[in-house]
Amino acid sequence: MVHRCFVLALLVFGVWSSGAMARAIGDASVQAKFEQWMAKYGRVYMDATEQERRFQIFKDNYEYIESVNRAGNLTYRLGLNHFADMTDEEFKSSHLRAQVNSRRPKSTTGSFRYANLNNLPKSVNWITSGAVTNAKSQGGCGSCWAFTAVAAIEGIAQIKTGNLITLAPQQLVDCDHHSSGCRWGYRGSAFSYVISNGGIASEVDYPFKGVVGDCKANQSLYLSASIDGYEMVPLNNETALMQAVANQPVTVTFCPDGENLRWYSAGLYKGPCGNCATHAMTVVGYGIYEDHGRGTEYWILKNSWGEGWGDKGFMYMERNVASQQGLCGIAGYPLYPTKKV
Ligand SMILES: *[C@@H]1O[C@H](CO)[C@@H](O)[C@H](O)[C@H]1NC(C)=O
Ligand SMILES: *[C@@H]1O[C@H](CO)[C@@H](O)[C@H](O)[C@H]1NC(C)=O
Ligand SMILES: *[C@@H]1O[C@H](CO)[C@@H](O)[C@H](O)[C@H]1NC(C)=O
Repeated sequence: MVHRCFVLALLVFGVWSSGAMARAIGDASVQAKFEQWMAKYGRVYMDATEQERRFQIFKDNYEYIESVNRAGNLTYRLGLNHFADMTDEEFKSSHLRAQVNSRRPKSTTGSFRYANLNNLPKSVNWITSGAVTNAKSQGGCGSCWAFTAVAAIEGIAQIKTGNLITLAPQQLVDCDHHSSGCRWGYRGSAFSYVISNGGIASEVDYPFKGVVGDCKANQSLYLSASIDGYEMVPLNNETALMQAVANQPVTVTFCPDGENLRWYSAGLYKGPCGNCATHAMTVVGYGIYEDHGRGTEYWILKNSWGEGWGDKGFMYMERNVASQQGLCGIAGYPLYPTKKV
């Protein structure tokens, strides 16, 4: 009697403890990942309760990323980044709300100067050519429109002058009064502002604050780059977009909807995404790679979600898809600044 009870108790205890142990070990390794992640991104929480709440969010996100990577059926990988302790709601309200007004922009010249170019290079990479600065972070300020305008100006300025200078999106956030600072903006009016102001300051002279401030553009502000005009690429035409990108970085609208984009870390992005045109990025190159005897065409995009997102802040995305708008609506509203000298 005594023996049986003892054995039974041991069995029950054994079953119970191995389950709890597995759970504890699982949690402990995610906890260790969380602590490494906190150290890497310098996260400090208000108190233990908030830290525990953020840990649970991190754990859900981590498990999602691991499960997608484990399934192994995508052409890209997901990874933990600085968004890992944010809920979907927090991410949506800070990064996925409409930030760019894509009303059909007017060009200042009324023409598309690259229309008749043939024999385009098979691949172009403005990053390795030295016309692209490192990727920046817009933080919680809905200013993708200013970051992409600046990236396109940095590009044409480098191509025309040989100098690569990091320019100031904060000047556009503060001074382009047709746009709405950290809420949303027009890329066309950002270019118009730079034209009428005679140029734009460098990031060093007008640092990014991530909140709207008084416009500090006055005669004492040194202008590091200028443009003369801007033009539109014919809409919904990836061939025309390629003609433009062969000559300079181009700003495009983009639909960031789709859970995986938030965690994109490497490889060729093929969706999911829609055609909502609420975000803007900069196309900084294109190319083609041989994939099991099949050529896969891609765009190289610069985002403003920090260097922790994607490939140091950049992404590779499928080019020449069946839909005219391009994947994620990339060919919907491309625009580029022009500069004579
Ligand atoms: C990849 O696998 C997952 C899980 O089996 C499935 O839900 C998803 O639709 C697949 N995706 C693709 C692109 O095949
Ligand atoms: C330019 O702006 C700075 C910063 O707001 C200000 O201190 C300075 O007095 C201004 N200069 C002129 C000439 O208005
Ligand atoms: C797309 O643009 C190219 C080059 O600019 C042009 O030759 C072609 O006709 C356009 N295609 C459509 C469908 O408009």
